[in-house]
Amino acid sequence: MKQTLRGSEVIQPKERLIIVSNRLPVVLSKKKGQWHAVPGSGGLVTALAPVLKDRGGLWIGWPGMEETDEKGVNEALADATRESGFTLKPMMLSSEEIEKFYFGFSNEIIWPQFHDLLGRCNFDPSYWPCYQKVNRKYAKVIQENLASNDYIWIHDYHLTAVAQELRELGVKNKIGFFLHIPFPSLDIFMKLPWRFQLLRSLLYYDLIGFQTMRDRRNFKQCVCALIKQISFHGKGQVVALKFGDHVVRVGAFPISIDFSEFANLALDAKVAERARQIKAQEPDMQIILGIDRMDYTKGIPERLKAFGNALERYPELRSKVSLLQVVVPSRYQIPEYQSLKDRIERLVGEINGHFARVGWIPIHYFFRSLDRKELVAHYRAADIVLITSLKDGMNLIAKEYCAANVENNGIVILSEFAGAAAEMQDAALLVNPHDVEGVADAIYSAFIMSRPERQKRMKKLRVRIKKYDIYRWVNSFLKASIAKSLNDFNIIEEYKPQLNLLRQRQNRRRMR
Ligand code: G6P
Repeated sequence: MKQTLRGSEVIQPKERLIIVSNRLPVVLSKKKGQWHAVPGSGGLVTALAPVLKDRGGLWIGWPGMEETDEKGVNEALADATRESGFTLKPMMLSSEEIEKFYFGFSNEIIWPQFHDLLGRCNFDPSYWPCYQKVNRKYAKVIQENLASNDYIWIHDYHLTAVAQELRELGVKNKIGFFLHIPFPSLDIFMKLPWRFQLLRSLLYYDLIGFQTMRDRRNFKQCVCALIKQISFHGKGQVVALKFGDHVVRVGAFPISIDFSEFANLALDAKVAERARQIKAQEPDMQIILGIDRMDYTKGIPERLKAFGNALERYPELRSKVSLLQVVVPSRYQIPEYQSLKDRIERLVGEINGHFARVGWIPIHYFFRSLDRKELVAHYRAADIVLITSLKDGMNLIAKEYCAANVENNGIVILSEFAGAAAEMQDAALLVNPHDVEGVADAIYSAFIMSRPERQKRMKKLRVRIKKYDIYRWVNSFLKASIAKSLNDFNIIEEYKPQLNLLRQRQNRRRMR
């Protein structure tokens, strides 16, 4: 196994790492009767693929289609395994499981609820038993592939109950859990009909990681309010939760990216040339870039309205900026996602219809994914990245854009409700995505910002993201899980901006 040589302290991986997430990093699709693996989308896969590539190990997850001929799937995954440098183990789901566990409980209940969008939840009672059943199924596959020293690391909201199932199967290995999405406040969490079961099942993990201190605080409030005989100990970034004899460590670990991969790719001659071509198509214009999965949490309609408002209120922007909006298809079977696409396309049509002139189209809209090189070329070509999530676990687009901004002159406009805001608040332009005029003003401020100011801000962001990259994130999570006592686990640097933010807020509250 390779040694990880990034970040301030190196964790020597003695154990094999088993990563379990609902998605494998590849999605299988059939072409001319043969299964082919293509890279998956979303923050989880982007962040974790380089980790296993670096350390080796096993990744268990769903390859994105219904149970089908296992032989063909295994062959396609064996090819992907050879290329990726770690083993991919498929977890097959039946059509009922896809409907009730994946689209149902995971994406029509937890996803909207944990993003504070209760109105979009469908609390269908048939979803919960299927969610439990699939969590049990995952636990069995893990057990079948387990060695006694393996460290099991479960990811994201689809799999909250896997540790409980593993313990019931008698598994003794250490099990960690990381939630990639936000954890809601008590008022919102209380609405979940299965609130006690879901919260209790989390207590079977040895370490639970959240993206931000705010998520951790919300979790703590829910546990204290809903579960008896529980106590929290310690004050640092990782605290201990005592529940009977069991101690669960709970911490905030803001996820990151493979900074050097994005920065090096941005310097690649072909990528740089492609970035020049993109720029040349919009001569004398600033390019504003939006890239998101097609998801209602990303605030895409809100962003389009703000862009239209900026063109209305700041006429000097006309013919001088264009918004390049890339929307990556996602979860299209869910009705909420279908109507979102219609809404976005209507808004793009309205804004273009209203403002376009010969030689200038305000919004270029792409409904497809970009391959890695094309993505980085777009990052490099863009003068501004515009991120308006209504709520977001972290938002890695913000970090990727900075890593690829090798000329140090891009501006990040970032929703204050994205986890990334806690780390980037002093150098990005923070916006409330619901405030149409506020976002429009930020677009204008970015447009007129001087080059030295842009460079000062971007340099700050790049230095920070380079230092706290994905390898450091893994190290800090594993360090928190293996440290003998929490006293050994000193405050990790990356949390300092978040701690400062919390302290400032507390002081403001005290002064009121
Ligand atoms: C988010 C979630 C991931 C998920 C990804 C893509 O990043 O946190 O768990 O895999 O979206 O969504 P999908 O439903 O296609 O897996």
